[in-house]
Amino acid sequence: MDTNRTAQSDVLLELSGVKKYFPITGGVFRRTIGAVKAVDDISFTLRKGETLGLVGESGCGKSTTGRVIMKILDPTAGTIRFDGHDITKLSGRALREMRQDFQMVFQDPYSSLNPRMSVGTLVAEPLIVNKKGTREQIRDEVERLLQVVGLSPEARLRFPHEFSGGQRQRIAIARALALKPKLIVADEAVSALDVSIQAQILNLLADLRKEFGLSYVFISHNLAVVKHVSDRVGVMYLGRMVELADKAKLYNQPLHPYTQALLSAAPEPKRNVTRDRIVLAGDVPSPANPPSGCAFHTRCPKVMDVCKSQRPELAAYGEGQFVACHLYA
Ligand SMILES: Nc1ncnc2c1ncn2[C@@H]1O[C@H](COP(=O)(O)OP(=O)(O)OP(=O)(O)O)[C@@H](O)[C@H]1O
Ligand SMILES: [Mg+2]
Repeated sequence: MDTNRTAQSDVLLELSGVKKYFPITGGVFRRTIGAVKAVDDISFTLRKGETLGLVGESGCGKSTTGRVIMKILDPTAGTIRFDGHDITKLSGRALREMRQDFQMVFQDPYSSLNPRMSVGTLVAEPLIVNKKGTREQIRDEVERLLQVVGLSPEARLRFPHEFSGGQRQRIAIARALALKPKLIVADEAVSALDVSIQAQILNLLADLRKEFGLSYVFISHNLAVVKHVSDRVGVMYLGRMVELADKAKLYNQPLHPYTQALLSAAPEPKRNVTRDRIVLAGDVPSPANPPSGCAFHTRCPKVMDVCKSQRPELAAYGEGQFVACHLYA
């Protein structure tokens, strides 16, 4: 399915039919007795220079999608193409080389930054490991990277614990930028920060994108944060993409009842519109045993008979909007 409407050369990342199932084992022999369907057949493309937001409730498979893109996890099925190459089965040296082009930024920079390393060493490490220049060149590059992310060059002599949460995230971003990646997967990158600091980091990411032509997959459970940074937004529910649309379309004219419910529950202080709040009945079902048909049918206020037996495919509905819902078939 063509969800990008652009020439192939403009596509940086393409996921087709990607699944990630985690086996559930039980009994004394630890036999496989089932699977957590964390990501269950998703497809999308990311254009060069684009930011795609991924939203959805806890456990819907956002981080798993991010980890599969980063090749931290191997997909159970489907293919991943990056910059024209099929990287699904890439391993060893070829993967290490390709990996320089994609980097990940996590929620908690403190756990991803070794506390015993100075900031200078932390930012230099990817350059040293990949033999990117002499000692002097690397030191100069580290100072430049620190300035790029808004820290002083002297920060290299200090240690992560001497910095605030927002500054630590800047250090993590400098480290991620060291190898000049084309793609950054940001997983809840600002979720642990104070709101005022969140805006600073989001603005930094937006500036870096312009300056270095970066593309982002921006994962967050926070709809307002995703709105701030994304060009397009994908909404996930139980491992599936239920809606994928240009930002304006998604926020102004959400089609999927799940997207409508998510938006109705999200506070929008700056707008004078009061959406009628849609309260979803029940909890998110287990991804080990998702409902038949449309996985959302058990909670959907607009459920029809067909929804219980037939899984709706993600299909185009109007310009720049894709939805997986029988209401639009
Ligand atoms: N390594 C794993 N082994 C088994 N199950 C896993 C593993 N990692 C994730 N899961 C399960 O897969 C599902 C999706 O998890 P994932 O972390 O991708 O969700 P998420 O959308 O990132 O949620 P959150 O908003 O809480 O971060 C969850 O049910 C989770 O428990
Ligand atoms: Mg997550």
